[in-house]
Amino acid sequence: MRRSLLILIAVTLLGCPDTASPDGGLDAASDAGSDAPRTYVPEPFEPTPETIAYCQGHDDAAIEARITELLAQLTPREKTELLAGDSLGGGTYVVDGVERLGIPGLHMLDGPRGLSTVSGLRGTAFPVAMMRGATWDPELEERVGHAMAIELRSAGADVLLAPTMNILRHPRWGRAQETYSEDTDHMGELALAFVRGVQAEGVMASAKHFAANSIEDNRHDVDVRISERTLREVYLPHFQRVVVEGHVASVMSAYNQVNGLYCDEQPLLLTSILRDEWGFAGFVESDWVFGTHGGVTSLRAGLDIEMPLSVQFRGLLPALNRGELEEREVDDAVRHVLRAAMCFGLDALPPRGHDGRIDDPSQRETAEHLALAREVATRGIVLLRNVPVAATPLIPLDAAALMTPGAVVLLGRNAEAESIGDAGSSAVEPTDVVSAREGLEARLGASVVTIGGDVLDLAAQAAVTAASVVVIVTGLSTDDEGEGDFAGGDREEITLRATEIALIRAAVGLNPRVVVVLEGGATITSSEWDHEVPALLFAFYPGSHGGHAIADILLGDHPPTGRLPFSVPVAESDLPPFDNTSPMVEYGYLHGYRHLAAGPTPAHYAFGFGLSTTTFAIAAPTGLAATYGEGDTLEVEVEVTNSGARAGTETVQLYVSALDSAVERAPLDLRAFDQVTLSPGATGTATLRVPLRDLAYWDAASGAWILEAIEYEVGIGTSAADLVHTALFRIES
Ligand code: BGC
Repeated sequence: MRRSLLILIAVTLLGCPDTASPDGGLDAASDAGSDAPRTYVPEPFEPTPETIAYCQGHDDAAIEARITELLAQLTPREKTELLAGDSLGGGTYVVDGVERLGIPGLHMLDGPRGLSTVSGLRGTAFPVAMMRGATWDPELEERVGHAMAIELRSAGADVLLAPTMNILRHPRWGRAQETYSEDTDHMGELALAFVRGVQAEGVMASAKHFAANSIEDNRHDVDVRISERTLREVYLPHFQRVVVEGHVASVMSAYNQVNGLYCDEQPLLLTSILRDEWGFAGFVESDWVFGTHGGVTSLRAGLDIEMPLSVQFRGLLPALNRGELEEREVDDAVRHVLRAAMCFGLDALPPRGHDGRIDDPSQRETAEHLALAREVATRGIVLLRNVPVAATPLIPLDAAALMTPGAVVLLGRNAEAESIGDAGSSAVEPTDVVSAREGLEARLGASVVTIGGDVLDLAAQAAVTAASVVVIVTGLSTDDEGEGDFAGGDREEITLRATEIALIRAAVGLNPRVVVVLEGGATITSSEWDHEVPALLFAFYPGSHGGHAIADILLGDHPPTGRLPFSVPVAESDLPPFDNTSPMVEYGYLHGYRHLAAGPTPAHYAFGFGLSTTTFAIAAPTGLAATYGEGDTLEVEVEVTNSGARAGTETVQLYVSALDSAVERAPLDLRAFDQVTLSPGATGTATLRVPLRDLAYWDAASGAWILEAIEYEVGIGTSAADLVHTALFRIES
């Protein structure tokens, strides 16, 4: 069923909003006095450094003055209507403007990997965000954000409902693929780059889902119990970066509760932290359909827009009329909405009614965007294992030696799949998807023989035995994982299906030259079987041209450069528990590599890990001081030399450990990373910077960040489990 239809049914099922709403009681149609002459004088607003920065070059003082004028002219009904969606129009989710005053509406569309299917239009399926996280390349991600914004704008959207930037706390989360990482620093870098790319095109980005949203099956109700310290240190810093450094236009509140309050009713999240501490100047919209739980309570907590329809917010007008809500409180939210619209220049565009459609197909699936999708997929594939067979590592395959029919046998449930990811709100419908089979055939033609099914019959066994190489493309699909309500939901396990493991084993029993390519949103454990295969790659959901990217890596047209944005444990039992059924779930301080490093069993493949087909020598860092002051930035340079015979890219990672801290700390935290791409024999420099205030911990008792004057260890390496150099420094008070 189409997603838009599902949403309308859900909204209908919500019942009569005015009686359902705790703020209802009066008929919403009674806008008493709204046609009477207005004598209302709104509060003026002095621009702040944050509103000026938010306005990105537009004249904020003029905009704020204009908004004040409009607040005097708008009726209470018009104001409350500006605070809610009005369903779909022209292929976007619409918040209607006010035509008589020249106020433009907002047009929203997902999402994290391209133009949403809600538009009814086709667009480029970029690799899922987790794969973009695996590139560890913010500049590349900025280009993706920019390209995606162009495609969405061509379909009439001015708000792009992304980035999804919830921490991957556990790989069973159904929407893991939509986010970038299990780590806040890595997530912050990538999401910030995406926001910059989107907003450089004049399209508004929306950071979602705020906050602590990383369970799917009970996402509408689950109460995430979390200490304020964990919330602030682990689940929020990346949101802070996109607000403070990226001036993100909007933030979407999450469905779930945090410590007993729904996110849309959370003054701590939406007002104290987001507005008062971070200076957020844009608007907060609710998540869709079941994401607004109060009328007045949500508005007062800091929610500005209910999406996609007015259900709870229909109670605002009656509450105003009853005197239970002040018009000035409504004005605050309206100002956030109008500031966004004007700072992004929507008032300068030709007026467009509710159903006005914009459609410029020449801006979508362009050669440039498809090439970018392929480039990103190629950059994001992670080579996890590549041991020699007859003295030579299998990857890269020698294409020249594979030119006879049947030289490559292709197996596995994803061999012919259109691996573009989830069928939920992030769904994209490209005109064409290059599967792994098509990608390999494009390079090797009739050499490739594809055999379906997970059991090898006699003919298949003969083909596998005779092949020069067997490629098994397997992993997950939308049946296994995806957005709750619409697609697979949370994963039931993090292993590969038993039938696929059996297929791998059957193939290896017949031919030692087996390459396994795993596809999926996040961690698929492989410790049980991967020592039996010489080569293993992780290819996520690689998007429109994913099959070409897989061929690029397998055949050595591009060196493997991807690095894991998550940990792959030996077994799920090495991770904190995942509970998607209890009404209340505890989020602890440690997860991912921070949890594994504190436990007895190291990761099977560590966060940050990925093999190259060359080797790198990493020199000791230079520039590290013995002591720093509180406001300093640690900056080191690391020389990297490509000591092998092929080109490659190394991702140098910097981790910090607080020694002898007065409080519990993670064994190590990623604090910076940089990449160098080098031809054989070349040397380059990675530059790593850590503002030392990032090392502070949150002290709940005093409600403040505390930067301890203690000794710290800095580790430079190629993954969370491979620190090549370590050194000590001290912060002095
Ligand atoms: C999702 C959001 C999405 C929204 C609109 C919700 O179900 O949680 O991420 O932006 O729908 O499609």
